[in-house]
Parts: sequence; structure tokens; C-alpha cells
Amino acid sequence: MNTVDSPSSVVREMIQVTRSFLPPRAEFDAYLDRIWATHHLTNNGPLVQELEAKLKTDLGVDHFFFVGNGTIALQIAIRALALEGEIITTPYSYVASTTSILWERCVPVYADIDPRTCCIDPAGIEERITEKTSAILATHVYGMACDVEAIERIATKHGLKVIYDGAHAFGSSYKGRSLMTFGDISTGSFHATKIFHTIEGGCIIVRDPEVAQKVLLMRQFGHNGDDHFLAGVNGKNSEFHAAMGLCVLNHFPEILADREKQWTTYFHAFQDLGNCSLLRPEQQLEFNHSYFPVIFDSNERMLRAKQVLLEEDIVARRYFYPSLDELPYISGAHVCPVSRRIASTVLTLPMYFGFGSRIRHVNSSGALRPVMRLGVMQPYVFLTGYFAYIHATYRFVLYDDGTIMRGCINSRNRIMVNGSGAYDHCSLL
Ligand SMILES: Cc1ncc(COP(=O)(O)O)c(C=O)c1O
Repeated sequence: MNTVDSPSSVVREMIQVTRSFLPPRAEFDAYLDRIWATHHLTNNGPLVQELEAKLKTDLGVDHFFFVGNGTIALQIAIRALALEGEIITTPYSYVASTTSILWERCVPVYADIDPRTCCIDPAGIEERITEKTSAILATHVYGMACDVEAIERIATKHGLKVIYDGAHAFGSSYKGRSLMTFGDISTGSFHATKIFHTIEGGCIIVRDPEVAQKVLLMRQFGHNGDDHFLAGVNGKNSEFHAAMGLCVLNHFPEILADREKQWTTYFHAFQDLGNCSLLRPEQQLEFNHSYFPVIFDSNERMLRAKQVLLEEDIVARRYFYPSLDELPYISGAHVCPVSRRIASTVLTLPMYFGFGSRIRHVNSSGALRPVMRLGVMQPYVFLTGYFAYIHATYRFVLYDDGTIMRGCINSRNRIMVNGSGAYDHCSLL
């Protein structure tokens, strides 16, 4: 059995729900040198073009536009497709997918979600179609896939356009094809909290070349030099943001692999709990593991778990909340009970690059071995009746080699597993 440090000697640090990836400073500096050499800061400079070219190739698309953020991407998408009237959309997304519809003077009409994916349920879409419907705007929630085939069938049958909000979808593929490539237009967000980011940023991926030409102009005030074509907006992004994107892109395979490891560790820890459920990516989805939502069986239990985690300096987030059909500025005509239930019971747990190996400790063989922050196990404890073990000095052990210890440290600093017995071969915080 190890001897352990006094737990009170452990420096406790707030664990945020996410933390932005930063590349090694020298890599970013090399791009800054290029900016300083050219004095080209914005307006479709060489780094923006380089980022766009790389992403076009990686995603296998012809028309890719780097823009200021994921919200302007949605707004330009709605404009470029000349949508009007009603847009059938998901109640389970970030507010930007609804507010973009409103800003473009269209009406969001909600169809409920499929609880297995948290994405819009195609079965509900057809019921909402009227003669005023012009499009479907769906979100690939948490990097899970919308039922793209069913949505395509419905859209074709009723002559509707399809926009996918792919803010969570970068790095996920369905049947070998990036999720960012479906629909008439797919948009992305490259905000600092996203799995791939450019600090602030977003993208618009367009299928039709004529629509692509409109997007190109709309992004830059609607004119090309002295020639004015349409009423556009400022949707551009800068060389500095592109530089960050190019750096992050170089590290994207490591980011994905790291995220998968963390996600899998959580999944094994929580998969068989009685009073909460997890999303399971379907077989044909190559998943980006971007978020780890836990759906509790009641709002009260979720709030309590959130509070318990906070007391342990762990910030878990209600994401998404509220269900968008409950927003105060929405008519409330289409109530979506599944979305409301999930939005009131979901908690997403901390996950970010490096989270799983931030803390190192000596194990019984004396080797340094990365372990996950032990506190993340506490929802498990809370949920399964081990609540009694939660105490300032108790910690739970997760090895990054997949072994998961569910236990605590007893008053004699011995590790207790599942409430009984001492356990050898453990390292702990
Ligand atoms: C699903 C979804 N859509 C749209 C957005 C808006 O993106 P941005 O913050 O880049 O404007 C976000 C950002 O969090 C999002 O999560």
C-alpha cells in the first residue's frame, strides 16, 4: 500500500468545464512573423487563404469560407439561400441557431428531438411543414449526427433547403464523410471553446456554386473592389485568427485522440448508473468526442450534482439550457417535451486537451503515471449512494490506462474501493 500525502497538501485548482487549446508559443510566433513581414492583417490575407485551402482539402469540399464567428455564418447562410417565412429548427441547440433565424426575420418553428442523439427528430419535422416553410435548420448536437438521410428525403420531397449548424461537428464523420459537408449549407463555429478553434471564428460550407458566390460577396459587404453586387455584411476574419487556426489544425489529431481517451474514461465510469443516461454514438459515426453530457433522471438530482461538483471546485455546465422553445421571446406555439426534459436534466462534464494527464502521482511501483483528476468521479458517488464518502479529504482515482478505481481514502489514508477493503497498486491525489 502506498503512503499518501496528506490530502490537505494538494493544491486545489478550479476545474472549468473547458479550457482552450493553445499551441506551443513558438508555432504561433512563426505565423506572427509572417504577418509582421507583410503588414497584411485582414481582408482575405495569405493566412486566411492558407487556412481555407487546408480545410477545403481536409473536408473534401469546393466552397469553404472562413468567417468571423458561427453566428454570422448562420445568418449569412439564411440570407444566401434567400429563406423566408418559417424555418423548422431544433429546440435543443445554442441560442444562436434560433436568434439567427429571428435576425433574418424568419420564424423558428420547433420540432422535438430524438433523445438518443439530442438532434432534431425527422419524424417531427414533417408534422410542422406548412405552405410557409422554406427550410430546415438542424444542429449536430455534441458532435452526434442528425439523421441526415431522413432530413434529405423530407427536404427533397417538400422542396425545402437544409442548413446544418455544425458548431459541434468539426472532426465527426458519418459513413466516412465529414458531418460538415451535408445540407445545402453547413456552418461551423471555431470559437475558443470548440474542439477546433481560431479564437473567434466560423465557417460556411456551400454545396451550390451560385450560392457560394453570394456567400463570398455577403461576407465582404457585398462588393468586390469597385463593383457592388448586393447588400452584404462584414463577415470576414483576420490573419491573426487564421494563424491560430493553422496552429491548432496541426495539432488536431492529438486533440481528437486526447478527447477520445477522456470521453471513454468517463463513459466507462458512468455507463451503468441507474439514475442517469449517456449518449451513445451510432456505429457509422466517426465521433469527435467533443462533449460529455450526463442526463439525470430529475432536475433536482442534476442541480444537486452540479452543486456537489462545485463544492469540489469542479464546474459542470448546463449545456444546452433552456430548451429554445421556452425562450421568453418565442411564441411558445410548439412545445417540445423531450427537449425540455433533457435541457432541464443535462450536465456536461469538464473535458479539454490535457485534462486527463494534468495530475501525476507516484504509483506503488514508484513510476510516474498520469491520472485523471479524481474529483470527476464524484457524480458517480453521489448518484450511487456513496454520498457518505464525499468529504474534503476523499478523492477518487481514474487511471488513464483505462483502469478506473471507484473509491475513497479512509480516515487512515487507505484507499477504499466501492466502500470496502484496502486496495493495492493505487496512486492517488
Ligand atoms: C450549436 C451552436 N451554434 C452556434 C454557435 C455560435 O457560434 P459562435 O459563438 O462562433 O458565434 C454555437 C457556439 O457556442 C453553438 O454551440
